[in-house]
Amino acid sequence: MTQALFDLGPTMLGPGAVLLPGFALDDAPALLAEVEAITAQAPLRQMLTPGGQTMSVAMSNCGALGWVSDRRGYRYDPLDPDSGRPWPAMPPLLLRLAQAAAREAGFADFQPDACLVNRYRPGDRLSLHQDRNERDFGRPIVSVSLGLPAVFLWGGLRRADRPRRLPLAHGDVVVWGGPSRLVYHGVLPLAEGSHPLTGAERINLTLRRAG
Ligand code: SIN
Ligand code: FE2
Repeated sequence: MTQALFDLGPTMLGPGAVLLPGFALDDAPALLAEVEAITAQAPLRQMLTPGGQTMSVAMSNCGALGWVSDRRGYRYDPLDPDSGRPWPAMPPLLLRLAQAAAREAGFADFQPDACLVNRYRPGDRLSLHQDRNERDFGRPIVSVSLGLPAVFLWGGLRRADRPRRLPLAHGDVVVWGGPSRLVYHGVLPLAEGSHPLTGAERINLTLRRAG
């Protein structure tokens, strides 16, 4: 429906969790240019899960630390394992945006040191999981959606909690921290489509304080 067009204010998802519709809309073209520069240096790649499955979502990182997965497990690494070089620096624009979104959600002084870049193509999905490889769960997660829309699964603190289905559009930002920091979340298979800025792709930027 057209509800999103008329409901542009922040939506509380739970304690410490808020959806900020369109929060990144003005910065989106510049953010996508930054993603181009990041992925030129640290190309998107489909990582292996510890169980040996290839993830459908292709990933890269920027910032002092990058999230990686392989046969040995999930972890943060200061080096891109594909190149042996540090991840590209966090663009100042992205840092400022994440800090402003975190502040909006009640988290002052958010200092992210890691940004996971996720690229979804039609059919790509991310199964229900918690973000729990970070050192301190006292810091929030800030998630920026660009390009094709997706359905975000927003569950509870137990894997078995039935998730809500939240449409996420280009420019939307979700922040979760505090009591919601370990909420299970995921993304349904991306629907076919074309976006004027990204074509048949969705880009998600997830900022964390990892170290
Ligand atoms: C993630 O959980 O890392 C990504 C979430 C999303 O793509 O919206
Ligand atoms: Fe996540």
